[in-house]
Amino acid sequence: MTTQQVGYFVGSLATGSINRILSKALIRVAPANMAFTEIPIGNLPLYSYDYDADYPPEGRALKEAIAAVDAVLFVTPEYNRGIPGALKNAIDWASRPKGQNSFARKPSAVIGASPGAIGTAVAQQSLKQVLAFCNSPLMNAVEAYIQFTPEVFSDSGEVKDAGIEEFLRSYMREFHEFIARVLTVLPPDEL
Ligand code: FNR
Repeated sequence: MTTQQVGYFVGSLATGSINRILSKALIRVAPANMAFTEIPIGNLPLYSYDYDADYPPEGRALKEAIAAVDAVLFVTPEYNRGIPGALKNAIDWASRPKGQNSFARKPSAVIGASPGAIGTAVAQQSLKQVLAFCNSPLMNAVEAYIQFTPEVFSDSGEVKDAGIEEFLRSYMREFHEFIARVLTVLPPDEL
């Protein structure tokens, strides 16, 4: 099939974000016919429905970036057992104005890394609930809760553990197949 265009969100604004490193690792091991574009979230003002009548350029750019891709991938940390504020803010922007929800029928997947053993499981659960409400067909399996250690992940996204690398490869393979299945029943040009 043709190359799938995937937009990815890194849920952290930190310069040394381990989730940004994870995103690099995922892109490295993804099937060759997936192409990735980061959708930035750090430049967005805090959302208010006061903007709905006239979205600012940052809000428009976000919605255009999502419209331009076949699917979205969320690579996110867990902050205080929840979704980081910057990411939730971006989702709120993209979901509005009312009736123009950018996530509707857009396939998605969620993954995240933390130094802790539960690997962002609580934030992911919350994010999945949000995406379900936003009517995004969400990949339920494979689940991926990554415990990050700098010994395993280099800054450029190399994975120095064959088992973890293979797991990430299978996660991206599964996402590729999931997107293809969703696009078969919900072709973007018929939406
Ligand atoms: C954290 N951290 C964290 N870790 C976790 O597993 N569960 C949590 O609830 C939290 N809460 C939390 C809150 C705040 C405000 C910060 C700054 C950090 C630790 C977090 O996993 C760690 O800082 C990661 O490096 C965050 O990922 P990024 O931002 O580096 O991608």
